[in-house]
Amino acid sequence: MSELSVNHLLGIKYLNQQDINLIFETADHFKEVINRPIKKVPSLRDITIANLFFENSTRTRLSFELAEKRLSADVINFSAASSSVKKGETLIDTVNNILSMKVDMVVMRHPNPGAGVFLSKHVNASIVNAGDGAHEHPTQALLDSYSIRERLGEVAGKKVVIVGDILHSRVALSNIFALKLQGAEVKVCGPMTLMPRYIEKLGVKVETNLKKALEWCDIANMLRVQNERMEISYFPSTREYTQQYGVNKKLLESLNKEIVIMHPGPINRGVEITSDVADSNQAIILDQVQNGVAVRMAVIYLLASKIKR
Ligand code: CP
Repeated sequence: MSELSVNHLLGIKYLNQQDINLIFETADHFKEVINRPIKKVPSLRDITIANLFFENSTRTRLSFELAEKRLSADVINFSAASSSVKKGETLIDTVNNILSMKVDMVVMRHPNPGAGVFLSKHVNASIVNAGDGAHEHPTQALLDSYSIRERLGEVAGKKVVIVGDILHSRVALSNIFALKLQGAEVKVCGPMTLMPRYIEKLGVKVETNLKKALEWCDIANMLRVQNERMEISYFPSTREYTQQYGVNKKLLESLNKEIVIMHPGPINRGVEITSDVADSNQAIILDQVQNGVAVRMAVIYLLASKIKR
């Protein structure tokens, strides 16, 4: 198979196993490209991409922009804070105004779940979801699985625990879909107050004891507590959360094996993960960020090849 089954990347739930294999094989090629002295290919010289960020971002925004530039696309950037959205313009009007400047692809981060799906039905461009509220963050899950594949050889058969604020996490949902699709076993671990009620219907098990979860897994993906999405208190105090669900060196040394530690960033050092763990060889956090560029190049390249010009 040499093309994706989809015209947009709106969520992992719309992909199949062959799509993921194709993205990873294409990313392998681009990873080699970005390690050359000249890190650029002319593949998308005829494509213009708009990066629309209605919510804060460091890694995803920079990673997409770099990926687009490494492919030689023309790139325009938009952030809601300095735009006419502040004057009351609708999402569709904003995007259609941008598209009238002959834009082919839109990469969008938005606080509302389903914003990417909505846009894909109303505008004539390829849409890439760069995170929509607490719904999905598909490129994060792809780069996470790609990093597991790189460190451990394959994703199939691996035991992965996702730890922390599952309730508010688009990273958790996209990772669950991606990992299950590739044949990994998945558990989620955290306080029951931060667990969606029907999470087990997604084929994952819940473990509330972090030590037991770490003893079971090959990989632990530590999530950030998303205070910005919480209107009430979900646990008594940050100190108590850290005592029960924070990973530290002593806890890892008490296991009878070495597990891989992941984190999507941004890290709350000393809350869900201590600095000695985040900066250790066991952690692949910066590998995840580095792989993000190659994986996003692959996604953009494959979607661009489906645009009718
Ligand atoms: N992992 C992630 O999405 O980070 P940003 O919010 O900085 O983009």
